[in-house]
Amino acid sequence: MSVFVHLGFAPVIEVFDLNRKFDEDNSTCKINLGLGAYRTDDGKPWVLPVVREAEKRVVADENINHEYLPICGLHPFRQAAARLALGDNSPAISENRVLSIQCMGGTGTLRLAAEFLKQKLKFDTVYVSSLTWDNHVGIFQATGYSQIHEYSYWDPITKGLDFQGLTDDLKNATEKSVVIFHTCAHNTTANDPTEEQWKEIFRICKRKQLMPLMDCTYQGLVSGDVDTDAFPLRHLDSEGFEFLIAQSFSKNFGLYNERLGNLCLITKDRTVLDEVRSQFEFIIRKLWSNPCHHGARTVSTILNDPKLCTEWKEEVKVMADRIKSMRKLLYNKLIELNTPGSWDFISSQTGMFIFTGMTKPQVECLCTKYHIYLTKTGRINMCAVTSKNVDYIAKAIHDAVVNY
Ligand SMILES: Cc1ncc(COP(=O)(O)O)c(C=O)c1O
Repeated sequence: MSVFVHLGFAPVIEVFDLNRKFDEDNSTCKINLGLGAYRTDDGKPWVLPVVREAEKRVVADENINHEYLPICGLHPFRQAAARLALGDNSPAISENRVLSIQCMGGTGTLRLAAEFLKQKLKFDTVYVSSLTWDNHVGIFQATGYSQIHEYSYWDPITKGLDFQGLTDDLKNATEKSVVIFHTCAHNTTANDPTEEQWKEIFRICKRKQLMPLMDCTYQGLVSGDVDTDAFPLRHLDSEGFEFLIAQSFSKNFGLYNERLGNLCLITKDRTVLDEVRSQFEFIIRKLWSNPCHHGARTVSTILNDPKLCTEWKEEVKVMADRIKSMRKLLYNKLIELNTPGSWDFISSQTGMFIFTGMTKPQVECLCTKYHIYLTKTGRINMCAVTSKNVDYIAKAIHDAVVNY
């Protein structure tokens, strides 16, 4: 008998299971509102024109070879990634207090942060927002954290941020814990704190000596401006915090399958950086040894060329603006249909998603009756809503809300 026979199935990974069901569905009206990936108004994936241009340059450059990258990745990429997160006027960058490490997607970046904080600094407690991207919990569980707690975030009554609950929970948090925050475009609730609220949150973090780990996966996709969306990072920097940033380049460069991420560690004392880097190298050697080249070279080509960088920022705005216009359209359709309930949250929520708060039977109705796939929590990827399918989606939501 095989030694593998007792394994059974691992828990289903919801968004990828939705993709599978979507692919197997033969209906001509099927729509996938599950996976968080950008779509054009024709419902197609978008390779950013600036990415195409940079890739052409990379392929044409005969000085580029396929040698291993250094353990911490491609130097010009790492520098540009830190500048993107912290801005041109960053005190930490100008004082040489930032360690920047190329990683494997946002997921690998978070995993590296979790490993480092646990192995080297003996953190064992992490706080995640309730709700959050489910892999936050998964990554910290897999890394062996024994204390994984939630802090309040989502208020189902207002379909907004429960700021009072959030600050109360942080005030009661165990000192010297890791706290994961979504820099912008909170996934799953699509609600971000205001600038004043961020300041209050970080005041509490300082008092409680909490270590902010800033998940930065959607920079630019809220406001259309990468600097505006980076407010919490810039604020932490200006206040002299020690903190970490886990960047993903999957969404705002559309480089989902290149698995490109970057970890920034900001310290108060630049003299520790070489030692800290060596500790990271020691961990990375056993994880992926050294990172992939193509995505990093592509992003580096863009961010380090002023003309390409301007084009990229314009293309990020195109994505953010299309998402905003789809929010407006879906809202208008539901109002036209007189769908019961308040739908104001569709425009007040931010980023790629809306968090509808629809019940399980309502979500099931969308899936089975209308072939519209979304997560059980009722989260909709607004990028997959188009001017062509919005009528159908609105009518289906109307039916689900009225009848289920
Ligand atoms: C909040 C959040 N963090 C991290 C990630 C992971 O990004 P990546 O696909 O680059 O691993 C995602 C992806 O959906 C996300 O939503």
